Formats: sequence, structure tokens, C-alpha cells
Amino acid sequence: MAVLNRVFNIDEMRQLAQSKLPKFIFDYLSGGADDEWVLHNNREVFAKYGLLTEVLKDVSNIDTSTTILGMKTAAPFILSSTGASRFFHPEGEVAVARAAADENVLYGIAASAMSSIEEVAAVARGPRFFQVYVFKDPGLNSEFVQRTKAAGYQAMYLTVDTVVAGNRERDLRNQLSIPPKVTPRTVWQVGTRPKWAIDYMTTPAWTFPNVESALDEATKNDFGSVAEWFASQLDRSFTWDNAARLIAEWNGPFVIKGITRPQDAIRAAEIGATGIVVSNHGGRQLDRLPSSIELLPAIVDAVGDRLEVFIDSGFRRGTDIITALALGAKAVAIGRPYLYGLAAGGEAGVSRVVQLLKSEIVRDMAMMGLTSIDQISRDVLFERDRK
Ligand SMILES: Cc1cc2nc3c(=O)[nH]c(=O)nc-3n(C[C@H](O)[C@H](O)[C@H](O)COP(=O)(O)O)c2cc1C
Repeated sequence: MAVLNRVFNIDEMRQLAQSKLPKFIFDYLSGGADDEWVLHNNREVFAKYGLLTEVLKDVSNIDTSTTILGMKTAAPFILSSTGASRFFHPEGEVAVARAAADENVLYGIAASAMSSIEEVAAVARGPRFFQVYVFKDPGLNSEFVQRTKAAGYQAMYLTVDTVVAGNRERDLRNQLSIPPKVTPRTVWQVGTRPKWAIDYMTTPAWTFPNVESALDEATKNDFGSVAEWFASQLDRSFTWDNAARLIAEWNGPFVIKGITRPQDAIRAAEIGATGIVVSNHGGRQLDRLPSSIELLPAIVDAVGDRLEVFIDSGFRRGTDIITALALGAKAVAIGRPYLYGLAAGGEAGVSRVVQLLKSEIVRDMAMMGLTSIDQISRDVLFERDRK
């Protein structure tokens, strides 16, 4: 798609996505919780870090591949699990999975996806995982274990920072629901995005096929507000013991997503997790969390040799990704960037996002005198506030 070739960074992809989506959908995608303090801080924090060059080195061959949870991938970043991707493009998670497979990057679909575990498996030849929340229905997680194993998923993620849904005031103001409420405002917003409107009206209705077995007939046909429905399904009494049981049941690579403290990272290692994601959920949950990158060093110091430590929230540039790797992350996950690509151009848009980030990493590594991911160490980092 010619228009995608004129997009040169993630921020431009965000602008293109905004031009394609009705405002209430774009707000859901790009917004954060409360005052969106964390959302903004996630970007601003990178000003604290510099990267250093090392010159006159042979950088004629640069290899960005790495191994994540035992899976060989082409780049040190992961397409994180995000729900409801058909909001942004009619092919939703299926388009993302195809692009991830073509680019050989790890992609995880969410329990709250609008495509099924099996549909995604059918197109996703690449490395992939499945992400669950702490659902009340005890049968649901067991069902997920069985279905994902049968469909060949290599790893499971448990997201633990969403025991209640974050306070996303943009969604409240917009009365976001499924199907969208017909109000003068939504009609106007949809009317200004005719391509999105046609796609919405001519493709199958939005559903959440992975949780269908847990829904009664009335809920299946009237989801109510997205936030309310999912919030009502979350189990606030879920603890480390439940997580340990799920890890034992899965019996394979298992990642706990949404860790912010060293002691919780240590507990994750103790109950047998393979990895953790240091995350503030992209600024969509507790709106006073520090940025993940600030929290990373203490967590890596606590568990770096016992767990694969991943990180997300606010990563938009190759330089951001290299900074996290320098501080000890095994890989970086991205959420909104690939969803902007999905909204902007479906599968091709996601591929463009992956290619842009990959090429930024290659270019940055060349300037830094690095030829492989394992050469990225703390030595390349300049921390402005460090005493
Ligand atoms: C629209 C949207 C939906 C999301 N849905 C989920 C989800 O279902 N499960 C989950 O673990 N994280 C979810 N996340 C969080 C992402 O996995 C990831 O932690 C976050 O987007 C990273 O921050 P970034 O968007 O700044 O890259 C979602 C994020 C967005 C933007």
C-alpha cells in the first residue's frame, strides 16, 4: 500500500490510524487511565537515557535475531496481547498473526480477542502465545490450557495487573459498548470514517469467541459496556497459589505480565514462571505507576538469571528498545504501535510497523558498533541522572 510506504515512524502510523478510525474507537486504542499521567510519562522518561556509539568497528553484518522463551525470533520485540482487535480492522487478530508469522516475530493473542484461538493458529505459522486474565470461571482457564495446547501455542501469559479494569474516562465519556451505541455523536463519528463504517456493516458481528462458553445467551447478544463485562469476569481473589496451579497445569513456558516490584518477580520465579513482563499496561491501569524502564534495573538485579525479564509500555523507537535491552530486558513488547499499523493498513500496516522498528534497530546498532543483540549491555548506556 503506497500510503504505508510514506509512513516513517510509529507516531506517523498513529496519525494515519486516527484518520481511519471513528473517534470513540481511536480513544479506546490510544487512551489511558485517569489523568493519563502514566501514558505520558511512559514516553517522557526516555529523555533520561542516552546511548553511546563505538566507532571503527566492522558492522557490515548485523543480526537482530534472538531467542525468546525458547523460540527463535527475528527481532528482540514482541507483539503484545491486546483485546478486541476487530475494532481496528475487520481481520483483527488474524491479520496481526499473519504479519507476525511473515516477519518471524512473537505474537500473543488475548483471551479477549475477537478471533478464536483456532482461527489464529490456522494462519500463525510463527512463534505465538496465548494470554489469559484471572477469570472467575475456574473452568475457563482449564479450557484455555486444553485449546491452546491442542492448537500448538508455545507459551501462556497470565496478565495480573487487571484485577479491576482501569478507569478509562475517554471510554466512559464515549459510552463505548458492543455493539456501539447509536447516538448523534457516534453516528457523526462513524459517518466521518466511511471505510470503517462499511467494513463494520459488511463483516460478521463482533464477538469474543474465546470466552463464549462462559457466556449465557443474553450476554452473548448484548455485551453491554466492554469494560463492565470484562470487569465482572475478573476474579479479585486470585492469588499466587492459583497462579502456581495454572503454571503446573500449563506445564510449559509461562509468563506473568504486569509485575512492578522485585519481590513479586522473585515470587514469580519461586512458583515456576519462565518469564515476567515489567509493565504498567501501557498506562491503562494504575495511573501513578512509574515507567517500566525505571523499574527494570532493580527487577533484573533480583531475578535476572532465574527468569526471562520482558518489558512494555511506551516503546516507540529502536532506540527505546535498545535502552531496555541495555538495562537487562530479554525483549520488549509493544501494544499500540502494531495496532496503529493494523488500523492504518491491516496486515500490511502491521508488517510496516515491524519493519520500521527492525530497520531502526539495525541502523542504531550500526552506529553503536554492535552486530548482535547479545552485545547490547549496560556499557552502551548513558544515564543522565546517575550520580
Ligand atoms: C487496545 C488495547 C487492548 C489491550 N488489551 C490487552 C489484553 O487483552 N490483555 C493484556 O494483557 N494486555 C492488553 N493490553 C496491554 C498491552 O498488552 C501492553 O501491555 C501495552 O499496550 C503496552 O504499552 P504500549 O501500548 O505503550 O506499547 C491492551 C492494550 C491496548 C492498547
